[in-house]
Amino acid sequence: MLTHLDCTKCEKRYDKGQVLNLCECGGPLYARYDLERAAREMRPGHLALREPTMWRYHEILPLDDPDQRISLGEGFTPLLAANRLGEHLGLPLLLIKDEGNNPTGSFKARGLSMAVSMARILGATDVCLPSAGNAGSALAAYAAVAGLHAHVYLPRDIAHLFVLETAAYGAHVETVDGLISDAGRMCAEQAKVHGWYECATLKEPYRVEGKKILGYEIAEQLGWKLPDAIVYPTGGGTGLVGMWKAFEELEQMGFIGSERPRMYAVQAEGCAPMVKAFSEGLEEAPFWEGAETHAHGLRVPKALGDFLILRALRESHGAGIAVSEEEILQGVREASSTEGLFVAPEGGACVAAARKLKASGHLSPDDSIVLFNTGTGYKYVENMIRAGWETPPR
Ligand SMILES: Cc1ncc(COP(=O)(O)O)c(C=O)c1O
Repeated sequence: MLTHLDCTKCEKRYDKGQVLNLCECGGPLYARYDLERAAREMRPGHLALREPTMWRYHEILPLDDPDQRISLGEGFTPLLAANRLGEHLGLPLLLIKDEGNNPTGSFKARGLSMAVSMARILGATDVCLPSAGNAGSALAAYAAVAGLHAHVYLPRDIAHLFVLETAAYGAHVETVDGLISDAGRMCAEQAKVHGWYECATLKEPYRVEGKKILGYEIAEQLGWKLPDAIVYPTGGGTGLVGMWKAFEELEQMGFIGSERPRMYAVQAEGCAPMVKAFSEGLEEAPFWEGAETHAHGLRVPKALGDFLILRALRESHGAGIAVSEEEILQGVREASSTEGLFVAPEGGACVAAARKLKASGHLSPDDSIVLFNTGTGYKYVENMIRAGWETPPR
């Protein structure tokens, strides 16, 4: 049960039941729960009988009434034993958390199911965000089910599919010259003018609650054990910081001990602010000028939760790692041809990162490793062709 929210920077406490964005100090807010009660009600034996969606962990989600959920069946995605890819990479204990099966084809469904459910309960009529594509289509789909108006700001060079899909759900779509950071500025301006509820990454407190469920699922799917390492494609980093929050909650509830996986943040060489900040020992990541990659989810030059991402990498003894465009495409090919998974470029980036992390000694054949595919490759065909993927002759 949700008790209150607090600031991740200054710890200021906020009452629940109100429309909230950032703390007065500019820090993202986190939802807090009665974890003692949740631990009593959420027994592993009971969980096994619950529905196979992220809502199976409802005690540690901010919404109590099941009738108020705006859901399309998101979450509880497969954790696949990637035997052939693992053998190929020399990492036999490799697992893939395949998020491509989610509604709207990516893990963004989790956060936006949660955020739209809460926005509607709190009385918002209009929701908005800037997006690299997947978050926009997810917001639009859930807003359609909720009967809310969605406004989505996308970089103009985005693949046509995302614009078409997002508009099909009835959203107002605006394409913007520049990157997601430019789209974000325009979205924030319009939200202020029109009184829309801004749902940009970590600018409202509930998307991360949907994303944190990745951590609960991995723990449950591994019999309440955590892997040795997690390899995660990082743009705004909500999934990574969400899982880190989940592990702390799970420890407080007594489901796991103090052990943690090493967290690896994967970025593209053309936009690697976290990798750079990590290697330079910084606590926040400066804006990355001239961001460029075909893995558009990774084209995030400045993350609001940079300090949370960097803290999780350091506390877990993980690292940041950058991969090239060619390595990303090669990663997509390898996941496809060994595991039958046509992964998003962001998933391909994780395959490439795993190889590099093994070469540098960060990952070893004894490690159990969860590698993320955060979306389906089907939505990225245009990006892959633009990146130089040659289609076979017809
Ligand atoms: C497929 C995919 N993977 C990864 C990311 C990065 O996610 P996050 O911003 O939560 O780090 C995105 C974001 O758009 C995405 O669409």
